[in-house]
Amino acid sequence: MSQVLVASNRGPVSFSLSEDGALTMRRGGGGLVSGLAGVAGAPREPSAEGPDVLWVCASLNEADRTAARRSPDGRIDLAGHETGGAAVRMLDIPEATFHRAYNAVANSTLWFVHHLLYDTPHSPHFDARARRDWQSYEAYNAAFADALARDAAPGAKAAIQDYHLSLAPRMLRERRPDLRIVHFSHTPWAPPEYYALLPDDIGTRILLGILGADHAGFLTERWASAFLDCCEMLPGARVDRAARTVTCDGHVTQVGVHGLGIDADALRRRAAEPDVVERARALREQVGDRQLIVRIDRTELSKNIVRGLAAYRELLANHPEWRGRVVHLAFAYPSRYDLPEYREYTAAVQRTARQITEEFGTPDWDPLILQVNDDYPRSLAAYGLADVLLVNPIRDGMNLVAKEGPVLSERGCALVLSREAGAAAELSEDALMVNPYDVSQTAESLHKALLMPPAQRAERCARLTAAATALPPQRWFADQLAALD
Ligand code: G6P
Repeated sequence: MSQVLVASNRGPVSFSLSEDGALTMRRGGGGLVSGLAGVAGAPREPSAEGPDVLWVCASLNEADRTAARRSPDGRIDLAGHETGGAAVRMLDIPEATFHRAYNAVANSTLWFVHHLLYDTPHSPHFDARARRDWQSYEAYNAAFADALARDAAPGAKAAIQDYHLSLAPRMLRERRPDLRIVHFSHTPWAPPEYYALLPDDIGTRILLGILGADHAGFLTERWASAFLDCCEMLPGARVDRAARTVTCDGHVTQVGVHGLGIDADALRRRAAEPDVVERARALREQVGDRQLIVRIDRTELSKNIVRGLAAYRELLANHPEWRGRVVHLAFAYPSRYDLPEYREYTAAVQRTARQITEEFGTPDWDPLILQVNDDYPRSLAAYGLADVLLVNPIRDGMNLVAKEGPVLSERGCALVLSREAGAAAELSEDALMVNPYDVSQTAESLHKALLMPPAQRAERCARLTAAATALPPQRWFADQLAALD
């Protein structure tokens, strides 16, 4: 029985299985894991005080299922691991259910709604099949609620994360009214008129699901306020904007804003390890003493990589003085490849990158290095070397790349940042802010960033670092739990 439980679709680690049956563990990816890694399990050091944390997540592949089967009572103990050492329970959710809940509902529908991603070729179509997918989403959420209900000590706190699990808070409260429950959204929240794209019953069920929690947390005021706007449309719900509460079926949910920043010491320690140092050496050798524009993303529609590349192209076209003197390192890691939109998007990123190389490349200058294989130590090395960091999402809950970059930058990098990233709320004074749809403005901002005098860059970078580390994950998580007291 655990006093503190975390629930998220993707867990802190994932496994792979070699032919001889050996399991290899690697860190899970994405902003949620970066935020929670090292936090949730931190108090599990044998000597340390604090609650015993159980992290419940989905098995993402056969190797995860094997790891769960091989562990006593299905709990995988991560004590001493870089992710902080929580015990992890990986749920074995039937493959078809998982596929529909994760791919069809969470990633093709809810993610699209909250990131305003629908466009004409990918507009929503809610038919009988969507209803069947929705039933799987319910079953998937119920599997989490069941596991949490089983593993929670009396009066325990459960921190349920993200849009995959928006029904679980209510389901858990029905099963275990003694628990205190927080739901946290790592994404933006859609404005009501966009949220209304969802069929009425589904939109309502999601709001009611989250309102089953005692506390609903968001990364910025803007997303919290959009959530309250949507709740105002909910029949039977009473929204008190001053107190930031929503009362529904006699239950009060407090809505809170908890910004998420970086644990600078942990990140710097990781970046000082030999694998990162080695990659930094290799990158430096590859690019010479040219200025470096770096971007690091999952290959994700909301990250706006194609427009970012188009902006780099426009920079080289309009400012030929940079040709031969700058290199763009674009790391676009594979993501959600089961979805056709993501496969098409990956192809578009690669096509655009090829065009730039063909148009501007010379025998002794490669203007763009696109890397599509996931390599965490190489990302950390690139942060260290960046002169300019480009973060231009169409919309983003927070964006931790914008915060990690300045912290690790050795040369005081300039940050070109989308005004639509949650991080803009904290970093806009010292970043060069852009409208993510405005390719020309982004190109000019890259130009300005490259021209920025080193002293000014360093000053801004120091202030960005201070802002990025003001709310470290430990505090973010502790605040969520404290909000339940
Ligand atoms: C975002 C979401 C996370 C998710 C991550 C990676 O940060 O808020 O919940 O885990 O993206 O996405 P994936 O689908 O690979 O888990």
